[in-house]
Amino acid sequence: MSVQIDMRVVNLRKRFARREVLRGVNLDFASGKITVVLGASGCGKSVLLKHLVGLLRPDRGEVWFGSTRIDKLPERELGIVRRQIGFLFQQSALFDSMNVRENIAFPLREHGMIDEKLIQEKVKRVLDLVALDEVIDQMPAELSGGQRKRVALARAVVLEPRVVLYDEPTTGLDPIRSEVINQLILKLSQTLGITSIVVTHDLVSAYRIADHLVLLHEGKVILQGSAEEFQSTTDPLAGQFLRGELGVDELARIRGKREDGAQGQI
Ligand SMILES: Nc1ncnc2c1ncn2[C@@H]1O[C@H](COP(=O)(O)OP(=O)(O)O)[C@@H](O)[C@H]1O
Ligand SMILES: [Mg+2]
Repeated sequence: MSVQIDMRVVNLRKRFARREVLRGVNLDFASGKITVVLGASGCGKSVLLKHLVGLLRPDRGEVWFGSTRIDKLPERELGIVRRQIGFLFQQSALFDSMNVRENIAFPLREHGMIDEKLIQEKVKRVLDLVALDEVIDQMPAELSGGQRKRVALARAVVLEPRVVLYDEPTTGLDPIRSEVINQLILKLSQTLGITSIVVTHDLVSAYRIADHLVLLHEGKVILQGSAEEFQSTTDPLAGQFLRGELGVDELARIRGKREDGAQGQI
């Protein structure tokens, strides 16, 4: 049986000024599965996600949503595609001046829903999914960091998207709150059949939730496979990252020594 693919990038390349951040990325994101993209800070994970929703356009390569190529779509048509993609940004910014109910209702109203009863039903349903019914009338400032993340997650799925993109969903949370988010990602994937694409440098969360793992390094995919395949990799670079070790160059930089033996500054 062949796997259905919801999103695909083909030979994706992106340069900012002199730095080529994505250097030919090829990836398939399987329908209904959780794909976790791992990589060191600054390796291009957020840049990759932004290409998937058309917030950035590639220099070269293709981005596909189902059978639609989206990287060259005009902004207006991209809007139709974006409606089917939920996005949990790294800074899960809620609107400070709106309570939780209005924050979550916002995407519904923005997309022209006017049936107030239906709006309230949908808001309650997603708040229930993230197990936060009790905060419905509170303001974002009254919530903890973990709760704000969950409200943002509820808002990201209120339009019942086919795909949800998560940018570092557990970063900055303690282990217990991270685990709550992991469990919610699993639950949303299972109960709504959502295709999930999660970027993170949090290995614990990655192993916990991933159906498929991808490791980015210097703008390229250097390893992909199951958790078992990752844990038994013999690729030296991948092994280094997965064991949390620094590369020789990085180590030399931090110690203030350069490869040529000269003393450098941190
Ligand atoms: N809009 C932009 N303009 C210029 N440089 C950018 C832009 N977005 C990202 N970058 C650079 O691209 C690199 C990868 O960034 P990013 O994808 O945010 O990394 P991460 O893997 O930590 O999410 C970084 O060096 C960053 O400074
Ligand atoms: Mg990032």
